[in-house]
Amino acid sequence: MTALTLSTAAVPGLRADAIVIGVAKGSASKSGAPVVAPGAEAVDQAYDGRLAGVLETLGASGAEGEVTKLPAPAGFKAPLVVAVGLGAQPEKDAGYGTEALRKAAGVAARTLAGSKKAAFALPLTDAADAGAVAEGVLLGAYSFDAYKDNGNGGKNGKAPLAEAALVGGKPRDKAYKAAVERATAVAEELNRARDLINTPPNDLNPEAFAAVAQAAAKEHGIKVQVLDEKALTKGGYGGILGVGAGSASGPRLVKLSYTSSKAKKHLALVGKGITYDSGGISLKPAGHNETMKCDMSGAAAVFAAVVAAARLGLEVNVTGWLALAENMPSGSATRPGDVLRMYSGKTVEVLNTDAEGRLVLADALWAASQEKPDAIVDVATLTGAMMLALGSRTFGIMANDDAFRSAVHEAAEEVGEPAWPMPLPEHLRKGMDSATADIANMGERMGGGLVAGLFLREFVGEGITWAHLDIAGPAFNEGGPFGYTPKGGTGSAVRTLVRLAERAASGDLS
Ligand code: BES
Ligand code: MN
Ligand code: ZN
Repeated sequence: MTALTLSTAAVPGLRADAIVIGVAKGSASKSGAPVVAPGAEAVDQAYDGRLAGVLETLGASGAEGEVTKLPAPAGFKAPLVVAVGLGAQPEKDAGYGTEALRKAAGVAARTLAGSKKAAFALPLTDAADAGAVAEGVLLGAYSFDAYKDNGNGGKNGKAPLAEAALVGGKPRDKAYKAAVERATAVAEELNRARDLINTPPNDLNPEAFAAVAQAAAKEHGIKVQVLDEKALTKGGYGGILGVGAGSASGPRLVKLSYTSSKAKKHLALVGKGITYDSGGISLKPAGHNETMKCDMSGAAAVFAAVVAAARLGLEVNVTGWLALAENMPSGSATRPGDVLRMYSGKTVEVLNTDAEGRLVLADALWAASQEKPDAIVDVATLTGAMMLALGSRTFGIMANDDAFRSAVHEAAEEVGEPAWPMPLPEHLRKGMDSATADIANMGERMGGGLVAGLFLREFVGEGITWAHLDIAGPAFNEGGPFGYTPKGGTGSAVRTLVRLAERAASGDLS
């Protein structure tokens, strides 16, 4: 990953391949010329104060996502200036805000793929801004090259930016240092989640995922327990076993326990980890299964968040549950019409084997509930319906507690993840009534994302606060890269979960 440093050096003397500066949209009342952001003063001076005009001549407007390259002025050690759009100018005396900086840094870092070193002279007002730029750089520079060039790694494309110096930070200031360290830990784990999501399903089956989790747990002092098929059978985990029954690669339930001696709260995180979702006997048609390696994105997010919490030494207990299975059709697969006896003891009539996520989550939610945590949050690429409702960049939040749903939404907003609260309308429950079992795994088609949420709610222990994040939209980016989001696995929900763990550590979960 890109190496980060905080630098106090003057911009003209920086030895780098490029200097990154910010440019914002001019206010409407003026000519419409872009405005050079603080941090770029030295560049502007060397251009005799004409930098805004030069940028305008080159077509720059200051819009988000825009990149304008220009030669560095005489006397600069770096040859290139990269001006990156920050969008609208902030109110007087306010900063540009962490998300605008994170996106701009991400765009610049991606643009500079193939370069050795870049200096980021973006407008920093405080430590949080420095953390956001650091995060944007590390997330934006990400690329997944493991399978390119016969395994020699990345030689077909440009290597990610190797080194980034953040200019204008305060390397000796504790808060700045801490913000950059936090950003580094979170971004490294988030990028690891992206790697797992992008890894093809023939290489990442439940057993392989569990092995990755075990190795990471060992490295970071996290307690880990893996239930294999034998243990799952003994324990009565009918949901996870039922989904995994058709695959040659057996299912796993991984429990990761990070504990702090100073913890006052216990947060449980549950992730859907379908390493490939073919739909099972209710097979998905071509056109709907090509990206289904992403169906373990929830488990990848939970895994990343637990490891990040451990690396940050958060004063909270965080338990991660990874419900891992491969959903395949075969002679041993669960059929539509089968009834499963779940870990909770409830019976479920499987009417559609493609509604498998709720089955593995049901067992993991019930397992998580047995420890009576202060709150449970599950994360899942659960329904196409949530994508139809919210589009491809926003995840839905459902909960059995309005205050907790708001807290999760706030956490998402704080870290710059688009999310939106969704209801759990009681009238949709009866659509899942089964003639044969306690409940069916499918209900009304309309509001399918909410129906799935209502199904999950039945497997949360009595009195436990719970929220459900349906990340089917934002988990996997099928379009081109934008901001600090690459094509492919995005690491959706990781930063929201880490923020929630931080909130729990400071004692306020709702
Ligand atoms: N993994 C899918 C949901 C999904 C769809 C995630 C598209 C990401 C992109 C899930 O297992 C699924 O197949 N859900 C069904 C449920 C239905 C059968 C009740 C769906 O949404 O169609
Ligand atoms: Mn499915
Ligand atoms: Zn699925």
